[in-house]
Amino acid sequence: MSKVVVLWSSPNADGLTASAKDQFMKGLKRAGAEVEEIHLNKRKLEHCKACGNGWGTCNKNGTCLIKDDFADIYKSLSEADGIAWISAVYWSDMTECMKAFFDRLRRCDATVNHALAEKRCILMACAGGTGRGTLECLMQLERGLTHMGMRAYDRIPVVRYNKEYMLPALETAGENYAKTLETGFNMYY
Ligand SMILES: Cc1cc2nc3c(=O)[nH]c(=O)nc-3n(C[C@H](O)[C@H](O)[C@H](O)COP(=O)(O)O)c2cc1C
Repeated sequence: MSKVVVLWSSPNADGLTASAKDQFMKGLKRAGAEVEEIHLNKRKLEHCKACGNGWGTCNKNGTCLIKDDFADIYKSLSEADGIAWISAVYWSDMTECMKAFFDRLRRCDATVNHALAEKRCILMACAGGTGRGTLECLMQLERGLTHMGMRAYDRIPVVRYNKEYMLPALETAGENYAKTLETGFNMYY
């Protein structure tokens, strides 16, 4: 049974992002995956202080000096078979909250630990405004994953105008992703 961490960010517990996450998780569970949900906005996460001369302990021993929930979440991701990254679209990017986590993760993992290298991920950007910036948000997520050597199996834009058909499809996406992790499908690029 594959373990999937669903990492999501939006301040709204019942908005578009939460609906996308719920649908995707339904599919994961239907396929029998072990699911850990992490709502980043509910966790204590500070932003990187760029300590030292820009590089702190992150590129020396792969840890961050700030004592908050970062290390626990990092451990969960390291132990997962798959990671779903789901963010509301803010300013054509991931939320500030997800970005703060992402920045610290990348410093520790890409330079020293490489614990996330080759993780098989799926990306979702949820835009409730015009929908502009959804693709840029997915690109930003994928760029960061690439720095850490992770792979994206799919990149899914969820917008106000496609939610009627996209939300039902996300349940199938979750089921399909969980099965794909089980069968060992491996995409290299
Ligand atoms: C600071 C901020 C920036 C935003 N930027 C965008 C944007 O670039 N494009 C867009 O379509 N919507 C944008 N929105 C709208 C959000 O995507 C919208 O709040 C969406 O519903 C997020 O999902 P939620 O329902 O989970 O909050 C922005 C919202 C906020 C608060």
